[in-house]
Amino acid sequence: MKAIFKTMSVIVAVLVVCSLAVVTANAAGKKIVVGFSQIGAESAWRVANTESIISEAKKYPNIELKFSDAQQKQENQIKAIRSFIAQGVDVIAFSPVVETGWTPVLKEAKRAGIPVILSDRAVDTDDDSLWVSFMGSDFVEEGRRAAQWLVDNYERLKNPAKSMQVVNIVELQGTVGSAPAIDRKVGFEEVIVKYPNFKIIKSQSGDFTRSKGKEVMEAFMKAEGKKIDVLFGHNDDMAIGAIQAIEEFGLKPGKDIIIVSIDAVRGAFEAMLDGKLNCTVECSPLLGPQLFQAVNDLMAGKTLPRRIVTEEGVFPQEVAAETLPTRKY
Ligand code: AHR
Repeated sequence: MKAIFKTMSVIVAVLVVCSLAVVTANAAGKKIVVGFSQIGAESAWRVANTESIISEAKKYPNIELKFSDAQQKQENQIKAIRSFIAQGVDVIAFSPVVETGWTPVLKEAKRAGIPVILSDRAVDTDDDSLWVSFMGSDFVEEGRRAAQWLVDNYERLKNPAKSMQVVNIVELQGTVGSAPAIDRKVGFEEVIVKYPNFKIIKSQSGDFTRSKGKEVMEAFMKAEGKKIDVLFGHNDDMAIGAIQAIEEFGLKPGKDIIIVSIDAVRGAFEAMLDGKLNCTVECSPLLGPQLFQAVNDLMAGKTLPRRIVTEEGVFPQEVAAETLPTRKY
């Protein structure tokens, strides 16, 4: 009982410190300083995400953004967060490269009374009081959507010479330990397991990059060759790299090998128009508007929703031509 009371008192004290910081910043009429730690620039998605954050911040004269690029390294993100704490920013936001390993630095932010917003990806920690809101996609649902599109459309799209008895899938996973790689795999398998003729025969990380996607697909082609019926790419960039590997092997991507990937970046639409990619599942990087709305709400003393889920769609090849001109990234 005593321990529960002690924990409750600590939580209340932290909340009071946070609200005082908010009130003080606003009352003095000074800018709200936001420290944002970005993962890097591994994909077209990430570049669009950075652009969305930087351009949206510029629309708010009351906000000063301190932006830091971690070049794919967790240690750099931790350093950046520590530096934001030392500078006494008002809010910290970040997109965690991997799910685990954040608890100590987030505790430091909490002790300093700085609220933390998770943007795009979640963290895995026992203490949910270490962050105030998580905004971004439902990655498990994206994996489910990719798999559902595949089982619904494979027979119609497959090379007529191929059988429906066994459908061999190769999977290019995202960054090892990252929330989208973990969750998309879970969602995809959750659906695929209901269709025993669909089997994942190879699965490896391509680190969300085009070059690694190509490299891993080359190895898949070498090992399995014509046995491969389907490629599931955890993002479009890896699928686009893999398309090159398939062509170099002498097969036709989108025909000999059906390809579904995630993000819905312009490059994916262009590949669909060329008939080389069959479907892309949307994952929106345009999180800037939500982020700075949330920062302003927080600083105005409002309680943020714990989870803000981005609404997204599925774009098969058939709608690529009409949809491409409307794409913003
Ligand atoms: O966290 C979102 C993922 O990260 C995108 O799907 C991928 O392209 C990016 O690198």
